[in-house]
Amino acid sequence: MAIERTFSIIKPDATKRNLTGKIISKFEDAGLRVVASKRIHMTQAQAEGFYAVHKERPFYGDLCSYMVSGPVVVQVLEGEDAIAKNREVMGATNPADAAPGTIRAEFAESIEANSVHGSDAPETAAEEIKFFFTDDEIVG
Ligand code: PPS
Repeated sequence: MAIERTFSIIKPDATKRNLTGKIISKFEDAGLRVVASKRIHMTQAQAEGFYAVHKERPFYGDLCSYMVSGPVVVQVLEGEDAIAKNREVMGATNPADAAPGTIRAEFAESIEANSVHGSDAPETAAEEIKFFFTDDEIVG
């Protein structure tokens, strides 16, 4: 299995409830390594750009407003099969459907306030990492 990098966001509902460490522990327990991390308050322009792929969807405006409602932690996670592994650890988008033990089953409040984002494919992972990090901010 190849070593991959994926992009993660710990969302405002999780930073507000001081769950950053507990969520990072879930990543680390799954064999993922944090190779870049910063806590930021996303601008409206960043949120709209990052989620542009969803701009025709009915929840786009709400999602962007939500993502600028508080601090987030953007991260690059590295490990074997990191993209799929991260999505497994996160659980389903809607916490009502998330498997027991996953981050969203344990911590998410709703489909909007669902605690974490993770890239869904190698191409999006590469784009999303570049959106928030320069090469020299990533230390493997
Ligand atoms: S996924 O994981 O991309 O397949 O999920 P998807 O259903 O396509 O959702 C894409 C992102 O939109 C968020 N989302 C919502 N936000 C607010 N309200 C509603 N109803 C809603 N439905 C989906 C979902 O959490 C995904 O956010 P990210 O940050 O990409 O995980």
